[in-house]
Amino acid sequence: MSSGAATIRRAAVTDPTHRTESASQSRIRTVGAGKRYGDFQVFRDVDLEVGAREVVALVGPSGCGKTTLLRCIDGLLPISDGEILIEGARVTEPRAGVAMVFQHFGLFPWKTVFDNVAYGLRLAGAAKADIAEKVPHFINMVGLKGFEKVYPYQMSGGMQQRCGLARALAVEPKVLLMDEPFAAVDAQTREILQLELLSIWEMRPTTMLFVTHSIEEAVLMGDRVVVLKGRPSTVHEVIEVDLPHPRTRETLTLPRFAELREIVWNTLKDEARQAEFELEKGR
Ligand SMILES: Nc1ncnc2c1ncn2[C@@H]1O[C@H](COP(=O)(O)OP(=O)(O)OP(=O)(O)O)[C@@H](O)[C@H]1O
Ligand SMILES: [Mg+2]
Repeated sequence: MSSGAATIRRAAVTDPTHRTESASQSRIRTVGAGKRYGDFQVFRDVDLEVGAREVVALVGPSGCGKTTLLRCIDGLLPISDGEILIEGARVTEPRAGVAMVFQHFGLFPWKTVFDNVAYGLRLAGAAKADIAEKVPHFINMVGLKGFEKVYPYQMSGGMQQRCGLARALAVEPKVLLMDEPFAAVDAQTREILQLELLSIWEMRPTTMLFVTHSIEEAVLMGDRVVVLKGRPSTVHEVIEVDLPHPRTRETLTLPRFAELREIVWNTLKDEARQAEFELEKGR
């Protein structure tokens, strides 16, 4: 058996930890989480833990419930079974300290970059002086200095994505949830944003759970890759990403990176082929 294959830990549905750390250290914890829309069961028995300084990538075929799970963790949607806890407290509604970056930027079109980035801080009742200090700091961090007064329609997709990221970072979240954060930007911008986010994370590590369809992105950024699969879906595989930190462009060239990419690909390829087959049939 290759050393790569040995790092796969099959996720036991009966074992809610998936980790060696004690439960008290986990910032996000889902226990037997299930979600139904009417009679349609999207996912079931999802047991997952994400530690305080951990980045977890959530992958799985289209429609398996990744966005739904993220929305449940954010408190935007109620779960049907089990429970979701953030720092030990049950999630029943959106809460301070948890920020979400949406796939399609989710910016307010009528607000400038400054006001979009300030949104979460104002919502949290931050003082004017605090906003005046923090907002430019985060705008600068994502490379949008000079664009404070610009509106979303005046920016490229990559700039809008940076703005969405700055808005989420500005509240200095304990938990950062991201739904395919870079899916809508071109390949070069995506790589730049991935590396920038990694360096921001190194400066201020936090709990990050992100959804992606990119296997490279999952392996580059994740400490673990969680594979959601099946109908209804559940955690099918948890792959430890034993690549060194800090993750940089060099990480992409490591032989271990290629091995891990193959491991994740192998867990997903049957379902990806099945999805293609079903699309073909439907034509
Ligand atoms: N409000 C809703 N009412 C009923 N069904 C829904 C609703 N939202 C999502 N679904 C269904 O739940 C399933 C999971 O949707 P979800 O958006 O979570 O998938 P996903 O894994 O994020 O997919 P993708 O990778 O395409 O973004 C899909 O079958 C979808 O049709
Ligand atoms: Mg989705």
